Amino acid sequence: MARIVAVLPGDGIGPEVTAAALRVLERVNQQESLQLDFIEALIGGAAIDACGDPLPPATEELCHQSTAVLLGAVGGPKWSDPANKVRPEQGLLRLRRAMGLFCNLRPVRTHPALQHASPLKSDLLAGVDILVVRELTGGIYFGRKERHADYAIDECRYETQEIQRVVRAAAALAMQRERRLTSVDKSNVLETSRLWREVVNSVCAEEFPELEVEHLLVDAAAMHLLSRPASFDVLVTENMFGDILTDEASMLAGSLGLLPSASLGEQASSPGGGTVGLYEPIHGSAPDIAGQGIANPCGTILSAAMMLRHSLNADAGAKRIESAVYAALDKGARTADISTATPLDTNAMTEAILAEL
Ligand code: IPM
Ligand code: MG
Repeated sequence: MARIVAVLPGDGIGPEVTAAALRVLERVNQQESLQLDFIEALIGGAAIDACGDPLPPATEELCHQSTAVLLGAVGGPKWSDPANKVRPEQGLLRLRRAMGLFCNLRPVRTHPALQHASPLKSDLLAGVDILVVRELTGGIYFGRKERHADYAIDECRYETQEIQRVVRAAAALAMQRERRLTSVDKSNVLETSRLWREVVNSVCAEEFPELEVEHLLVDAAAMHLLSRPASFDVLVTENMFGDILTDEASMLAGSLGLLPSASLGEQASSPGGGTVGLYEPIHGSAPDIAGQGIANPCGTILSAAMMLRHSLNADAGAKRIESAVYAALDKGARTADISTATPLDTNAMTEAILAEL
């Protein structure tokens, strides 16, 4: 039976990188007889322009019928006037929430061929393999927002069960890896962080006694990510800290353009996959380079690999894509963000990856 994959290109470089990932997915769809049907829909600024809503009902409906969603990026200067009540980002946040995708996986690995692309010293980068698990549907992103004449409010709220479920997923994933979990909070200042830390301790003590658990304050974590990146295994944190720390961590890999993500709901940690998910690169819409055809498609292509693994029970296809990306990089294929010599454009980089498939 055919399975639907919704494709939401969005704004800026979103359409360029999703088109690249779609070419790769279509190839693997044939090679592995996956019977995937790709259906495109609007999100973000493109959807605001077309129908005044960053998440039109037709898009939400399609996503609910899909086994997986591939997304490019949303946002851009065209829609970011502070007076605007409707913003492209709301489309993405509403979709994450509507699909119940509370668990966002952001793997950060260094690849030997790319160590020079990172601003960090190479000896710090060897063996870096971090899985950041970011809570995605709670916290300050989704709290009450108020704007008054001379003040504004963003409420940060977390319920015990919201923390438990993401910590459980992160702990279960750590048990399949090196069995080390770092929880990041700001419990010296924030009440939500004090609850977060208590819940991490109780979930891990009761359900994951074999796990080695470390707590870090977010400011210290930001530093340790640069001073001892290879020491981390799984890092779990709340929504906004996870957003910020993963942009920072992307520089370990060499570029924001390289990092994929998977946003999952229940069964986020089940090894066999088969859960509904949203897959997107961690980078944004990059308005500064949009339309030039020079964006790095690797983050989106690697997100497509995560889609095969977590939602489509197609681990062989996932591995095939990942090997192709790394083989192309090993042979010197580079987009402008990771190269100083004559770089490949998005299309040529995608061709180099397709050639390895
Ligand atoms: C991300 C992005 C989004 C976020 C924006 C576009 C709303 O930065 O996925 O990291 O903050 O979650
Ligand atoms: Mg971000």
